[in-house]
Amino acid sequence: MRNDATFFIKTFGCQMNVWDSENIRDLLLSHSLSEVSRPEEADMIFVNTCSVRDHAEKRALGWIRELDATKKRNDGLIVGAMGCFAQRLGRDILSVLPNVDFVIGTDAYERFDAILERLKAGERQIIDTGPEKGFRSSPRPGRKRLRAFVSIMKGCENFCSYCVVPYVRGRERSRPLADIIEEAECLVEHGTKDITLLGQNVNSYRFGELDFAGLLNEISRITGLLRLRFTTSHPKGLSPEILDSMSSCPTVCEHLHLPAQSGSNNILKLMNRGYTREQYMDLAERVRSRIPGISITTDLMVGFPGESESDFEETLDLVNRVGFDSSFAFKYSPRPGTAASNLVETVSTQEKERRLDVLLKLQKRIADEKNKGLTGKILEVLPEGRAKGADGFLTGRTRSNKTVLFEGKDDEIGKPVMVEILDARGLTLYGKRQGGGNGGSPTCG
Ligand code: SAH
Ligand code: SF4
Ligand code: F3S
Repeated sequence: MRNDATFFIKTFGCQMNVWDSENIRDLLLSHSLSEVSRPEEADMIFVNTCSVRDHAEKRALGWIRELDATKKRNDGLIVGAMGCFAQRLGRDILSVLPNVDFVIGTDAYERFDAILERLKAGERQIIDTGPEKGFRSSPRPGRKRLRAFVSIMKGCENFCSYCVVPYVRGRERSRPLADIIEEAECLVEHGTKDITLLGQNVNSYRFGELDFAGLLNEISRITGLLRLRFTTSHPKGLSPEILDSMSSCPTVCEHLHLPAQSGSNNILKLMNRGYTREQYMDLAERVRSRIPGISITTDLMVGFPGESESDFEETLDLVNRVGFDSSFAFKYSPRPGTAASNLVETVSTQEKERRLDVLLKLQKRIADEKNKGLTGKILEVLPEGRAKGADGFLTGRTRSNKTVLFEGKDDEIGKPVMVEILDARGLTLYGKRQGGGNGGSPTCG
């Protein structure tokens, strides 16, 4: 491999993978490798895989297999699989993907430098899915970004019965406060205004005496940081102290992702979620009364083994009652090694699809109504860039994480402005900047 080799990273999966990919990117850049925007131009290709559903694994597999043709044309091309699917399969990945040159599990990133040296020396079929020694603190940041992720913990010990994450991401480990602050301050110094703290279950962050509520207080003190968010918060651990920090720290945004998964107590129990529908609804109400204007988003699943029509209707009812601003909804997919994979599937694929469709339509109706209800309101928007296909318009986000398009100039990017909402189309709001601009919707949209 040349010393000035080029690389391309393809990322599947959740924000944890995005953060890991960014770290690998920074590390490769620090080794004087350069990033290219198309896989065909790269000497090394990294595929960061996800294992959360069968479909996610198949997408990554398909993507890597398609590289076979490129590999035939370019002998020297190195292809590596990283992430959760790579962790799950380990060496077995070579039997499904014989052309992969190396496999790095989710805990092996701290040994990435050494793996890179071995690749440079010509070694192939390197497999490292072993455990990590510590929470690798990362070099940051390679480039300017207005919004950035900062990982605060890894792993999960909740063992929801359907979920592969505890098996592929291991036990919970919290990152030392000093490392988190260092990374966040460095990002802010380089222009980041909006930080999302990441963890599979941020509520269980603990470093010495410091819990998640305390961590929010600490990070929100960073000068120059305008917005602080976090994901994911498990409903069972969202303590009154966390709610206190959310309502008292002006930096913490009015947005909460609170995965419900189901609205049926039977199913929540089978899922081992640790709360009932009543507790969930009560929590959502408390959150709304403590933090006015907060948007609540969620994850939902349909077709879990044993989910009857009336269980499903309870999910629809929960969605109606809570009135989520948006939600991610998934068809249950059995994962090898999880407790639920021993349950007999009772909902056909076709029925899962029907339920998903009904759920998505309901969610869309609710989201449309909520967004229409924002017309006339004046909201703080952080402009992030030019709106694609809408000349003269900028795109930005509200503190509640809604996308707003409004007329504006490039020099306004990165500076929060107050925008009057004039219209809502689907998930996008259109507005007029206070104190200038003509407002209205772009003709495209
Ligand atoms: N830690 C987060 C979720 C991470 S996985 C939490 O607890 O909320 C993201 C979402 O994928 C989950 O919320 C769930 O809705 C979905 N998911 C996880 N495992 C799944 C499976 N086996 N089949 C279908 N969806 C699944
Ligand atoms: Fe998976 Fe549950 Fe952990 Fe979320 S809390 S990662 S759904 S086991
Ligand atoms: Fe997928 Fe791993 Fe995230 S399984 S959802 S990439 S933690």
